Amino acid sequence: MYICLEGIDGSGKSTQIELLVKWLDDCGIDVLMVFEPTESPAGKLIREMLQNPNATKNNFQNTLALLFAADRIILMDEIEEAEKAGKIVISDRCFYSSMVYQNDGDWINKINKFAKRPDLVLLLDIDPETAISRCEGKDNFEDIEFLIKIRKRYLEIADKQDFMVVNAKNGLNKVHDDIKRVVARKLGMCI
Ligand code: TYD
Repeated sequence: MYICLEGIDGSGKSTQIELLVKWLDDCGIDVLMVFEPTESPAGKLIREMLQNPNATKNNFQNTLALLFAADRIILMDEIEEAEKAGKIVISDRCFYSSMVYQNDGDWINKINKFAKRPDLVLLLDIDPETAISRCEGKDNFEDIEFLIKIRKRYLEIADKQDFMVVNAKNGLNKVHDDIKRVVARKLGMCI
């Protein structure tokens, strides 16, 4: 089972993933936590490029799309192995981040031919103003106009692909409970 959390920067994804993984762990479930960009050489290059002031421009986005796809393909082996071993894989971002951030559906689909689509995607939805106030000084995707566009695309794709949308503006515990409920249902657990 491959479960992914998506959301704009500052949606609280990383914190919620930590809480989710800890909870699954406490329930005795074998979990592998992964994140994109990874720590592969491609992932490192991506993080460096994200610091560039031109990061939101088109040519940059196309280059990034290729790098994200390359980085993702490497991660697929690890995910497949974990799934074979019966683990639940929890991922901070996946293929859908590229669909939303790099935004060229057909091409993104093509270059991500080898990337597995998750069994469940949770979208942590939040307004960009609140998100930005949570992540000042991190990278160049914090431009408000850009995040407004990204959020809109997330909500559109969520509708088409049946993502579970969680209101990430609620308090930490409420968001965690909402995520737990969705994941428990998917895994057939009683909570
Ligand atoms: P993020 O999850 O925010 O990493 P960190 O917690 O280290 O800041 O991801 C970094 C950025 O990469 C984020 O702004 C979204 C972007 N991104 C894409 O544009 N396309 C992708 O395919 C992925 C996986 C991430």
